Amino acid sequence: PVPGDVEQISKAWDAVKNNEIEILYFIFKSYPDIQARFPKFAGKDLDSIKGSADFAIHATRIVSFITQLYSFGKYGASHYAAGFTIVNEFASNHKNRGIPKDQLSEFCTALTKYVSTHAPWDDNIAAAWSRGMKSFLEVSFANY
Ligand code: HEM
Repeated sequence: PVPGDVEQISKAWDAVKNNEIEILYFIFKSYPDIQARFPKFAGKDLDSIKGSADFAIHATRIVSFITQLYSFGKYGASHYAAGFTIVNEFASNHKNRGIPKDQLSEFCTALTKYVSTHAPWDDNIAAAWSRGMKSFLEVSFANY
């Protein structure tokens, strides 16, 4: 990441990081093939699961993972290793579940779409955000 990216990303992420349910809903709505990978959600009507406890739990897990990752960036170089560790762990868990790379890319596409339409957004934020997503996928795919 480029110095200053964390500040740019925070302008957007801070505005949506409490919208866990809406974020997961948007991702499943955009890519039903992602929803279909979850044993608890596969084959179910999205609007009917949106209010369930399982949905809230999973939405919170994903969104807090992103917030945690971004906090490691915020704390600076001394925390980068911690960021690599959680992304590598994420990647190996998801690889073991048989989640294809394409779906991780779809996830990032949908997340970017959500954030860019629900948070402050300009060319600088967009560029920083896109570098962040690119590093996330590069690290995830390194041993995928
Ligand atoms: C867990 C699927 C992307 C974060 C899970 C589980 C599944 C899954 C099936 C297990 C759920 C359970 O047993 O309760 C997928 C699919 C993805 C995807 C199909 C396609 C893009 C992501 C992304 C993140 C993420 C991009 C983070 C930004 C997590 C976390 C857990 C989890 C934190 C719980 C911890 C764990 O079991 O690894 N995911 N996931 N997932 N996912 Fe994903």
